[in-house]
Amino acid sequence: MQVGIDKIGLFTPNKYVDMVDLAHARNQDPNKFLIGIGQSEMSVADQTQDAVSMGINATMKYIDRIDKDKVGLLVLGTESGIDQSKSASLFVKTALKLKPEVRTFEVKEACFGLTAAVMIARDFVRVHPDQTAIVIGSDIARYGVNTGGEVTQGAGSVSMLIKADPKILALNDGHSAYSEDINDFWRPNASRVAMVDGKYSTQVYLDFFKKTFNDYKKQKNLETSAFDAIVYHLPFTKMGLKANRIAVEDQDQAVTENLETSFEASKQLSRRVGNIYTASLYMSLLSLLENGNLAAGSLIGLFSYGSGAMGEFYSGSLVEGYEKEIDQIKDQAMLDHRKKLTISEYEDVFNTALEDPEDGVVLESDDKEGTWYFAGTQGHVRQYKVK
Ligand code: COA
Repeated sequence: MQVGIDKIGLFTPNKYVDMVDLAHARNQDPNKFLIGIGQSEMSVADQTQDAVSMGINATMKYIDRIDKDKVGLLVLGTESGIDQSKSASLFVKTALKLKPEVRTFEVKEACFGLTAAVMIARDFVRVHPDQTAIVIGSDIARYGVNTGGEVTQGAGSVSMLIKADPKILALNDGHSAYSEDINDFWRPNASRVAMVDGKYSTQVYLDFFKKTFNDYKKQKNLETSAFDAIVYHLPFTKMGLKANRIAVEDQDQAVTENLETSFEASKQLSRRVGNIYTASLYMSLLSLLENGNLAAGSLIGLFSYGSGAMGEFYSGSLVEGYEKEIDQIKDQAMLDHRKKLTISEYEDVFNTALEDPEDGVVLESDDKEGTWYFAGTQGHVRQYKVK
């Protein structure tokens, strides 16, 4: 029995910053951001969007096309948690009107969180083939105004339905995992912004990629040429470019061109949305499906990296007719309809969102009808509403 991704939905908030504007404001050469980092825009979450609301909005993209009664598991991976105890997934479950019998919880290991959820869901569906699982990655990457990491911020969520006989990507058996207890990126409880040693993190990411990619190929007796595409966790697109260069080292021209072309397709959404931590790898996958023109049966490698640090490489095979399950025009429209912020507007929105509103204050969303949003707290209980 094949188990894999049957549905996929992307959400990003309705505001963005243009990297050329940011470069000018920070006295940097725009090409450093556009080429050196590889980002052209970044989505900005205002105070009304958080891990819960974005996760609901991403799942709403496909919820009307699934049998909700079959959902037996809901797992949300995030490093932008909204509570130290209660799982963000419970708020999502209520908004989606899932049955009470669903098993639901939140997982954390930096940007690896959604891959952890995918693996849990894959195993769950193998044991319960008549049930399905919703997995969500939802994050706001915040480093702070005028910091080195500012250009690698972003906000958004990817939600997927994991199911037997999937319509998009069948997940293959096996994986290669590698972990080490290191300090390349973390966020202490009292801080809304991350601490990062970006250069160190880059080195560890590439080291873990080499280790897991080589080990996976060995385990499965595969050559690099067997992969039609490799998608990467993209904290910024230059990071994936560096890993892809390693993947094609010593490969002939045809393999190199193939993996370079698919990498270009996989980075398009990330270039405009920015880093969405847990969901970044799966936004790369969606971008590949929307822009890559791959044939059914294509073998796609997936490299997941979560700082701290955990790496994993696994693969999936594209299912016949996968194109019918994605909607590039709608995703493009969501990005195109975002409001461009001036740098001073962005700084105000960003700094306001670092704090929760005073208890009892009711927030309103300026997003379009049908969007779920965080409406403030009442008696310190978070309120979620749909516009
Ligand atoms: N034109 C083109 N490229 C340029 C340029 C220009 N005018 N100026 C600089 N560059 C290139 C540099 O050569 C460098 O390329 P390289 O990485 O291939 O060597 C790149 O732009 C970045 O420049 P650098 O000076 O290294 O940038 P920085 O000191 O501002 O740091 C990050 C960049 C990415 C390390 C920093 O933004 C960061 O820490 N971000 C957070 C990363 C993260 O999220 N990590 C954890 C999750 S995995």
